[in-house]
Amino acid sequence: MTAQETWHALTRGRGALITAAILCALIFLATATLVLTLPEQEQTPRGLPQLAHTHDIELGVAVAVNPLVNDNQYRSVVTEHYTSVTAENTMKWVNVQPQRHTFDWSGPDTIVGFAERNGLDVHGHTLLWHNQLPAWLAQGSWTPDELHQVMREHMQALMGRYQGRVTSWDVINEPFQDTGPRLRQNLWYQVLGEDYIAQALTMAHQIDPQAKLYINEFGIEGGGPKTDALHRLATHLLDQGVPLHGIGFQGHFIQGNVPENMAQQMRRFTDLGLEVSLSELDIRIPEPVDETDLQQQAHEYEQAIQACLEVPECVRVSVWGVSDQHSWIPEWFPGYTAALPFDDSYTPKPALDGMTTALSRTPSNRRPHQPHPTH
Ligand code: XIL
Repeated sequence: MTAQETWHALTRGRGALITAAILCALIFLATATLVLTLPEQEQTPRGLPQLAHTHDIELGVAVAVNPLVNDNQYRSVVTEHYTSVTAENTMKWVNVQPQRHTFDWSGPDTIVGFAERNGLDVHGHTLLWHNQLPAWLAQGSWTPDELHQVMREHMQALMGRYQGRVTSWDVINEPFQDTGPRLRQNLWYQVLGEDYIAQALTMAHQIDPQAKLYINEFGIEGGGPKTDALHRLATHLLDQGVPLHGIGFQGHFIQGNVPENMAQQMRRFTDLGLEVSLSELDIRIPEPVDETDLQQQAHEYEQAIQACLEVPECVRVSVWGVSDQHSWIPEWFPGYTAALPFDDSYTPKPALDGMTTALSRTPSNRRPHQPHPTH
């Protein structure tokens, strides 16, 4: 080969190399442009916590201590799908103070510790209720001063222990009669009169001035005499300057009976300056359950979440249990089942898609989440 032929061969080779390099650069640029111009949600499918974050709401779940400690899958469902937890039972009076002045913190500490390690919010449930009271309290006979003292000791111990870690509390749970507009004649009412509600809220605020204080109630989601009575109570408390910050709509529904006007009912309370939440959502289905039921349930989960998203001051939706295996429904409502978004073996049900669908929309009257300025 002459020197000239060698030179031509080399430059042809270099030309091919340069062409290949230019092609690679073009392909890279085209791919990068495509990725950058795709709508955000098509780049990476987003999970419920990320979606909830874009709406500035918490997505919560009620948890029990035993499976939280012993069941890996249970823990994964909680951490992968939710941003907040509520103790289903372990912060109730019967468990926290089973004997007077004897406190059991093992369950509450487990739940609060788990939440903190996993970056989850904790909603406190519950301080004054008529159920799950220890016998020494329920069967005791109390003067108003004595009961006041008992209340203060308990609230001081529980709220004080988790101050700054549990950011909101159901101070009053289910104060109205099951179906009626009258206040429930519970222990607190019998000894202290209807002012027990104002007294407990005031006490709670003294103990933890930062905590959001709630009244939590069921059967108020679709309006009616019970909702009206709670609205009158809330108005009266606020007029008196009582520290009440939120109303929890429990949301224990029967499939086919999820009210259409829930956002409207919530707005009646947010118009008073309160925040609201859907605090114990589940949608139970009469047995036997078929695929059509599950599809309807999915639609109703979507509808329930959508209602909260339509109300700017609706801050949280919590479902009442991790999976159908752990739900309170079969025990408390025989003949009903399958109330939650995960089935007995932790498989997501259509209901979970319903939640995702609602959270994937941006309702027009909710301010989208503003990212913090980066400076
Ligand atoms: C229920 C729990 O889920 C059950 O495990 C327990 O046996 C009874 O209480 N409203 C409330 C919740 O505020 O505390 C209740 O939780 C369900 C109804």
